[in-house]
Amino acid sequence: MTQSAFIRAVKGEVIRQKPVWFMRQAGRYLPEYRATRAKAGSFLNLCFNPELAAEVTLQPIDRYDLDAAILFADILLLPMFMGQELSFETGEGPRLKPALIDEPVHLSHDRLEKGLAPIMETIRICRRELSEDKALIGFAGAPWTVATYMIGGRGIKDPASFRSYAYEQPGNFDALISELESATINYLKNQIRAGVNAVQLFESWASGLPADFLRSYCLGPACRIANAIKAEFPDVPVIVFPKGAGYQVKEYAVSGCFDAIGLGTESDPVWAVEELSEHVALQGGLDPLLVVQGGEKMRAAAEKILFVFAEKPYVFNLGHGFVPHTPPENVAELVSLIRQ
Ligand code: CP3
Repeated sequence: MTQSAFIRAVKGEVIRQKPVWFMRQAGRYLPEYRATRAKAGSFLNLCFNPELAAEVTLQPIDRYDLDAAILFADILLLPMFMGQELSFETGEGPRLKPALIDEPVHLSHDRLEKGLAPIMETIRICRRELSEDKALIGFAGAPWTVATYMIGGRGIKDPASFRSYAYEQPGNFDALISELESATINYLKNQIRAGVNAVQLFESWASGLPADFLRSYCLGPACRIANAIKAEFPDVPVIVFPKGAGYQVKEYAVSGCFDAIGLGTESDPVWAVEELSEHVALQGGLDPLLVVQGGEKMRAAAEKILFVFAEKPYVFNLGHGFVPHTPPENVAELVSLIRQ
């Protein structure tokens, strides 16, 4: 397979016209997504229906001709097959029952492979339908981020506060992180066997943690996951997105564990280019709310990013996912600016 511009950039090549994809590129801001989701009946039905999940994975590629598709699934499908019950209440976000703060749960890997088999089928369909110059990105949540949902049973404003669970129940917490680490390694390897060309680890809740805690429970597991993947699939790039890790993003960069790092909305691109670019490829950074705004503000921020990273290995993306009220025409304008 000829290597796509996206794969070449995450592997460190400087490409003049920057490749582009977006976090949450398939989702509620697109009318075609809402139509397919309605057909599926619910978000989880959509995740486990390979034909429909492949359809929504490919919708943003058809609409915007992006360089990469990201598998349509969710980071919380893993705990769903490890012993908790997952549901999405409309307007309230995810629920995992029972929450580990309320009740200890026996975590098991037995049901993972069978439970996640439909996701592998989605990958096979997508890879069959995508042209060779388009990459398919697989993903998983990083252990700490997934653990915050498992511990609390839901998303909260300050997930870093769940470190108190680690302080109060160190044995349970260490076991939880290490179970998630090994489950994630298997899950990502299976995604690669099914056909994804790169994988991204989402550490969405790296902010607000003590430096040593972040080293032990975010960077450490992410690095071991990346190394385990590299040991079997040395050519498959691993991207990590440690959102909100602040200056510690540099520790991710110099660790040598990752091919590329996703920059959060809060990252200064000038700092990133000076401190990180000599160590890894970079991706992302544009404030997703500027795409809601559109117009001159969005264009100026995008142009600044393109200017700053012009001579570096860089993949255009956001600093977090699209929000549901993003106007699709602003996305089209952004893509055409990147393509100029
Ligand atoms: O990025 C993509 O387009 C690929 C698919 C994808 C989804 N979730 C689909 C989704 C990916 C990569 C994710 C990752 C994910 N899921 C993360 C890490 C990235 C991030 O955003 O920080 C997290 C924390 C989750 C957990 C999760 N799933 C939350 C908090 C929610 C939001 C609940 C809500 O109602 O807003 C989801 C649901 C979800 N996952 C949706 C999508 C498109 C919305 C579902 C819908 O109602 O149609």
